[in-house]
Amino acid sequence: MIILLTGTPGTGKTTISHLLAEKLGCPLVDINHLVDEKHLYTGLDPEKDYKIVDMDALEGELFKVVGLQNAVDLKKDSLKDSTKSSIKASTKDSIKSSIKASTKDSIKSSIKASTKDSIKSSTKDSIKSSTKDSRNDSSKDFSINPTKNSCIIIEGHLSHYFPQADLVVVFRTEPTTLSERLRKRGWKETKIRENLEAEALDICTWEAHQIHQEKVHEVETTTITPKEVIDVILDIIDAKKSFPVGNIDFSGYLGG
Ligand SMILES: Nc1ncnc2c1ncn2[C@@H]1O[C@H](COP(=O)(O)OP(=O)(O)OP(=O)(O)O)[C@@H](O)[C@H]1O
Ligand SMILES: [Mg+2]
Repeated sequence: MIILLTGTPGTGKTTISHLLAEKLGCPLVDINHLVDEKHLYTGLDPEKDYKIVDMDALEGELFKVVGLQNAVDLKKDSLKDSTKSSIKASTKDSIKSSIKASTKDSIKSSIKASTKDSIKSSTKDSIKSSTKDSRNDSSKDFSINPTKNSCIIIEGHLSHYFPQADLVVVFRTEPTTLSERLRKRGWKETKIRENLEAEALDICTWEAHQIHQEKVHEVETTTITPKEVIDVILDIIDAKKSFPVGNIDFSGYLGG
């Protein structure tokens, strides 16, 4: 079972993934750490301390990690044509510049003017990874053979781009609470704002949904404890509960 844990920075991926890996006895891959370790980046954004991740190289490494060597064929099979073409059609810079350039008002009006589908189709960026914040070493063993492990957890805000998954959990945090978490990290205001806007616009959710459809669940980490989040995920795995995409709406954060 391949479990992808994704979400805007600060929503709790690293915190939860360790607990979940322990609970399930699964190996854990931290994408931030993998990117650093294998140098899967093409450059740096000096303004924001982002590494510009080489997405093809990352995907290749992840296929190796999960023991699926025929990456290209699997990728072709797993990505539906529509997803492929929309991903191809969208450029790195499109969402980046829209987020950069957007004021509250412009985002608001773009939401008004667009359906979620149109937001969905414009959301392939996140080719940036805040790897500076990679704080744990638990995923150093990248050679994982799925025949020996019944599950594997891959965590990081780019994890949902990996086309193979049985379950994708997008962690969500109400932007005001998320803002407090990110401020504690000492991040620049522009970087914090960019991430809060991404959270309010459901960017990770819609990107994940484009690729993984009904395998995606959204779990809110705003008020519940990490342990309670684990219980929710276990219920999803056991098919006792379901948290499909579309039930969380933080767009009010962008103004009324
Ligand atoms: N229910 C919760 N689940 C997860 N984290 C929570 C929860 N409630 C509060 N937190 C806090 O939120 C913070 C989440 O940080 P964490 O590093 O896990 O986020 P992340 O999603 O991995 O971020 P990044 O993408 O930058 O790596 C931690 O300080 C954690 O203690
Ligand atoms: Mg993390």
